[in-house]
Formats: sequence, C-alpha cells, structure tokens
Amino acid sequence: MKEPKQMSVSAIQNGTVIDHVPASNLFKVIQILGLDTIENQITFGTNLESKKLGRKAIIKISGVYFEDEDINRIALVAPDAKLNIIKDYEVIEKKVVVVPDNIVGIAKCMNPKCITNFEQVTTRFKVVSKKNVSLKCYYCEKITDQENLEII
Ligand code: CTP
Ligand code: ZN
Repeated sequence: MKEPKQMSVSAIQNGTVIDHVPASNLFKVIQILGLDTIENQITFGTNLESKKLGRKAIIKISGVYFEDEDINRIALVAPDAKLNIIKDYEVIEKKVVVVPDNIVGIAKCMNPKCITNFEQVTTRFKVVSKKNVSLKCYYCEKITDQENLEII
C-alpha cells in the first residue's frame, strides 16, 4: 500500500522553501543566508529521509523571497537545493541553485601562506570549474579544489 504524502514541516502561506539541503550542511546554509539574524518566521526539519541525499534538511522561511545572487551563495554547501517560491499556499515557481562566477567569503583558501589565512581579509575566489568546484584565490592565485574545500 502506498503511504500518504505527508509534510514533515507545516506548509507556509508566503515565502521560500529550500528543499534538498544535505542535513550535514543545514547550519552552514542558515549562516550563509543570514537566517540566524532575521526576524521572520522560520521552520526547518532535518535528518529527513531522501532517496538522493541520504539525509536531507528542509528550511521554510515565511515572508522572504531571495535574490538569485544571494541564494546562489549556498551552492557550495547545498548544490542540489531546490527552491520553491510560495504565494497564497501555492508553489508558484521552482528554482535550482547555480554555482556563481565568484565567491566572496564562505570558503577558505587552502594555501597556508595566503594572506587571507593570517590577516583579517575576506576571501575572494574566481570559480574556475563549476562541476567539480575549483576556486582560484584572488590574492595568491592558488587553486582550492573540491577535495580541499573548507567552508568558513
Ligand atoms: N510547500 C510548503 N508550503 C506550501 C506549499 C509547498 O511548505 N504552501 C513545500 C512542500 O512541503 C515541499 C515543497 O514546498 O517541500 C515543494 O512543494 P510541492 O511542489 O508541492 O512538492 P513536490 O511535488 O514534492 O515537489 P518536489 O518534488 O519538486 O520537491
Ligand atoms: Zn589564497
């Protein structure tokens, strides 16, 4: 018998639902989007079952619609995230995240000698590969690849 489809986190009236976030990166997504400092109502569920991700998280932010540029900042930690734009309880648009051309902050340069690792400088990278993410540091020009990618 087929199980009825149930929502593990209540529906929202207006806002943004970010689905398919890897459970292990939920709090990084919250931090990158600054959700810890806004006053809107936010609900989330984590360690939910997902065929694709093993364990996924879902975040529902009432009354907020993000700019693509802001939402794409989560691409490094939630590359498969699906965004659902909700108006009057209806999903009116679905979006996916896209790895941006440049990354400011978020990632750490893997070069121990890089200035960003011993002075208070915001990291800055050019994305040289989007598929298997590879970042070129704007300061030292060294490449940080997916394997060595560390989120700050
Ligand atoms: N959702 C919500 N509030 C609403 C409508 C939808 O929180 N008023 C959430 C649903 O819980 C779901 C997501 O938005 O997590 C997408 O909704 P919908 O497209 O109806 O679900 P699915 O068909 O399961 O979408 P997909 O397979 O694309 O994830
Ligand atoms: Zn560097």
